[in-house]
Amino acid sequence: MNSQFSILLIGVFDSGVGGLSVWREIRRCIPDAPLIYLADQAHVPYGPRPAHEIIQLTEACVHWLIERGCQVIVIACNTATAAALPHLRSTFPHIPFVGMEPAVKPAVALTRSGVIGVLATHTTVKSARFASLVQRYARDVRVIERACPTWVALVERGEIDHSQTLSQVAGDLQPVIAAGADTLVLGCTHFPFLSTPIQQVLADWHVAHPQAPVTSVVDPAPAVAQQCLRQWQAQSHAHNHLPNATLELHTTGDPHTFAQIALHLLGIPNNEQHVMVINRVRVAL
Ligand code: DGL
Repeated sequence: MNSQFSILLIGVFDSGVGGLSVWREIRRCIPDAPLIYLADQAHVPYGPRPAHEIIQLTEACVHWLIERGCQVIVIACNTATAAALPHLRSTFPHIPFVGMEPAVKPAVALTRSGVIGVLATHTTVKSARFASLVQRYARDVRVIERACPTWVALVERGEIDHSQTLSQVAGDLQPVIAAGADTLVLGCTHFPFLSTPIQQVLADWHVAHPQAPVTSVVDPAPAVAQQCLRQWQAQSHAHNHLPNATLELHTTGDPHTFAQIALHLLGIPNNEQHVMVINRVRVAL
């Protein structure tokens, strides 16, 4: 394709709806950028899968995004980044990738208690990439890792405001706060959609423990959007601009359910559905 006449498209990918928490930050940061979102819901969750499967699935989805014309790809999934980013970079050397990783470094800068909590998937907290992050930035603080696979399932079902969601979130968070963590890292892109129950649990904790330090919550999505902006600026001189392009959301799962849940999570009224093209994509394992 002659880049002089092509449109600069950004592909955003996750195992499910979680990456929409990154997608909305990119939209805020680069409102003119045409984005294509792909949720691999036929295979969600990635968290409990072995690395070789995550690599295979991610590669197939990235291949699909490249075929659609994406020139910059955001892996809006900590789990896929932990398992597959080096493989993707060597398989698609012409594509600039933006990955996600738990915001350990900013959390270490914020903590006063010297204890941080990292909430993520099993694959992420057990990965060599995460061990290296802790080794580089968190040697002088205590890091409490907590895999929260049920949170992924709750967000995939759109159950962000149910009472059982609050008790599930409380059950996972309370031991981390009780151990002294004053800074929590959202190390999975599904988790920012649980910010209401997370803030509720923290508020309840502070009512019950008035001496406890105020807890900060760190979401890396705004920093990832900034990184995406830098890639966009670096590439955009060679491409045409297409402002106000249609927003495209795609899933490998059921498009109807995906549309309903995505709009609910993003707080977009149903009648604005026409701005999105939602397709079922086939990506084989
Ligand atoms: N949203 C993904 C992440 O950031 C993982 C969810 C899953 O598929 O287990 O890690």
